[in-house]
Amino acid sequence: MTTSIQEESSQTRLVLRATDVWKSYDDGAISVLKGVNFEAIQGQTVALCGPSGCGKSTLLHLLGGLDEPDRGHISVNGVELHRHRSRLHLLRHEIGFVFQMHNLIPDLTLEENCLIPTVAAGVDRQTARARLKLLTDSTGLSHRLHNRIQKLSGGERQRTALCRALMNSPRILLADEPTGSLDEGTSTTVFQLLLDIAATEGVTLVMATHDRALAEQCDRLVEMHDGRIREPESI
Ligand SMILES: Nc1ncnc2c1ncn2[C@@H]1O[C@H](COP(=O)(O)OP(=O)(O)O)[C@@H](O)[C@H]1O
Ligand SMILES: [Mg+2]
Repeated sequence: MTTSIQEESSQTRLVLRATDVWKSYDDGAISVLKGVNFEAIQGQTVALCGPSGCGKSTLLHLLGGLDEPDRGHISVNGVELHRHRSRLHLLRHEIGFVFQMHNLIPDLTLEENCLIPTVAAGVDRQTARARLKLLTDSTGLSHRLHNRIQKLSGGERQRTALCRALMNSPRILLADEPTGSLDEGTSTTVFQLLLDIAATEGVTLVMATHDRALAEQCDRLVEMHDGRIREPESI
C-alpha cells in the first residue's frame, strides 16, 4: 500500500519522459536518436551534454513538441504528446524555449518581443505587463524595455530570450546551448540567472550544453553517446 502511494507521488512529479525514442533525418540516412530513454522530475535542472552533432537539439525539439519522433513516446506532465489535445497549447503554456541564437525579432523592442507569446496565448495586457516587469527586474533589463533588440548586447539579448521564454509561466524550460554564442564572462552571468530563475519559479530545466563547467552546476548531468543517453553512474 505504502509503496503504491510512493510510486504514485513520484509519477505525478515526473514532468518529462522519453521512452525508446528514435529519430533520423533524410529518410533514415542520418540516424540520430537510437532508443533514447529520459526522465525529468518537477523542479530539476538537467544538463544534456555531448559533442556537437550528437543529437542534443534534436532531442530538445522532440521533448518540446517542435518535431515528432519516428518511434517511441514522449510525455509531458503524464500526457503523451501525440495524444495531447493541442500541441500549440502545450507550447504556449507549459513549455518555454531558449535557443542558442536568441531567435528574437531584431527590429522590435524588448517589450514587443516578450509580449508576442502572451498575445498568442490570450493573456490580458495588464497581466502580461506585470509579468514582464517582474522578469525584466530580475534579469536587470528594466531600463532596456523600449530598446530594439538590434541595440542590445549579446548577453542582453539572451537575457531577453530568457524573459520571453518565461512570459507565460511555463513549468518546463528547454534551453538549447543558451550561452553558446556568448563570451565566457557573459556566459557565466546568463547561466547563473537561468539557474536562479529556474529555482525561484520551480521550473524544470533541461539544458543542452557542451560546457562541462556549466553542466556540473545542474542537479543532474546526462550524456548523449551513440544516439542514447547515459547517466554518469552508467558511463
Ligand atoms: N533537419 C535536419 N536535416 C538533416 N540532418 C539534420 C537535421 N537536423 C539535424 N541533423 C543532423 O543530425 C545530427 C544531430 O544534430 P543536432 O541534434 O543538431 O546535434 P547537436 O545539437 O548535439 O549538435 C547532426 O549530424 C545533424 O547534422
Ligand atoms: Mg544543437
